[in-house]
Amino acid sequence: NPATENLRAAMKKELPEEILSILKDISQAAADTGIPAFLVGGIVRDLFLNHPNDDIDIVVEGNGILFLEHLYQQFGGDIKTHEQFATGTWRHPSGQMIDVTSARLEYYSHPASLPDVEKSTLKEDLYRRDFTINSMALSLNNQYFGRLVDPFNGQNDLRRKRIKVLHNLSFIDDPTRILRAVRFEMRFNFQMDRQTETLVLHSIGRIKDLSRDRLNGQMKRLLNEGSPSKIILRLFELNFWKQLGINEHSQKKSVTHSEKLEDVYRQYEGLQAGWFIYFIIPFYHSDVLYTAKQYAVTKKSKKLIQDIYTLSDNTEWKSISNVGMMHSYLKDISEEAVLFIISSENVHNEKAIMTYLKRRKNMPSLLTGEDLIKQGLTPSPEFKKIIMNLDAAVLNEEIQTKDDALKWLKNNHGTDGL
Ligand code: CTP
Repeated sequence: NPATENLRAAMKKELPEEILSILKDISQAAADTGIPAFLVGGIVRDLFLNHPNDDIDIVVEGNGILFLEHLYQQFGGDIKTHEQFATGTWRHPSGQMIDVTSARLEYYSHPASLPDVEKSTLKEDLYRRDFTINSMALSLNNQYFGRLVDPFNGQNDLRRKRIKVLHNLSFIDDPTRILRAVRFEMRFNFQMDRQTETLVLHSIGRIKDLSRDRLNGQMKRLLNEGSPSKIILRLFELNFWKQLGINEHSQKKSVTHSEKLEDVYRQYEGLQAGWFIYFIIPFYHSDVLYTAKQYAVTKKSKKLIQDIYTLSDNTEWKSISNVGMMHSYLKDISEEAVLFIISSENVHNEKAIMTYLKRRKNMPSLLTGEDLIKQGLTPSPEFKKIIMNLDAAVLNEEIQTKDDALKWLKNNHGTDGL
């Protein structure tokens, strides 16, 4: 069978040797136990796309726990099993993790009544998955090793660059798939087919049913995947933002803002934008930023929202061109928040602000409170102000060394020095 040969060859060519060798072990286990095993999901898709992927997901037609125990006995490593779901993970001696799930589910209405036994095979397992391109499997069984099992023609959709669900209830079953669909569109430059997009539009309200953590998890994966401005736009098209209380009229401003922010981050070396800063853009332009607080779980993201409010309340910092003076307004504000605002509107002193942020990052602290005391100053709340003025002088590049700082202190705060 030429198709079989091709995939065997493709596996040899595309998969790293370690992975291939583990698949051979699994193949051996399938032969030993008589439990058929298949490689499924993202790794199969990525094999065709020549994308590296080392997530090994295995489906067995039979008892997954037995299969895992056999792997452990034969090849070592470590296993973790969830008896209840007949699934588990094998940690190969190399450290590689392998997920094993059982396709076979058996239902007995009465323990002894055979006719009620239902065997869920690989095909049924694949049918429960999200998109056709993710519902392909490769047999690992003996002479069939490398044979493609593709009951929903994922191959064809890969060729046509299509994200397509397997059935009409897919997004109802699992609304996170809506965000997964967009993620795969972005990652591979694919598109949902018409029917799938219509189903998204019909089930988009289900987004509201997702827990905060599920939504955050998916948004993080999505926004880290491609251009945030493109993602934000796509999510407007799909009426996603509306579900979070965002006005559709904020689309244009949100997209422009995110484009500019991407630009600013590209220029701004050494700082990686987190997903959250992009996520809150539509909230900001819909005047409902306060509602985004419920999605802020990290300290950093809470502070980002707080800082954006602070920067909006007092706008003086936008008219200062002296880098040192800027410090008194911005010293407690995160650079993210500043970048957020300067990419949402035209700020005249943008250049000075960028200079300020860059210098602030590398600013040495030349004198401590201890130093001031040594210089004969009495500890007081004044210290904070002195340090801030010193920092301002450093930011203006008037002071570079500790000696400069001590001289400055003498001139400005009347100490006698040493
Ligand atoms: N899957 C699904 N529905 C979901 C999540 C996952 O049907 N909501 C299935 C898909 O078949 C997917 C597999 O589980 O291929 C593995 O899921 P995951 O690792 O999240 O996705 P990958 O496709 O491997 O994507 P990635 O490359 O981002 O890991």
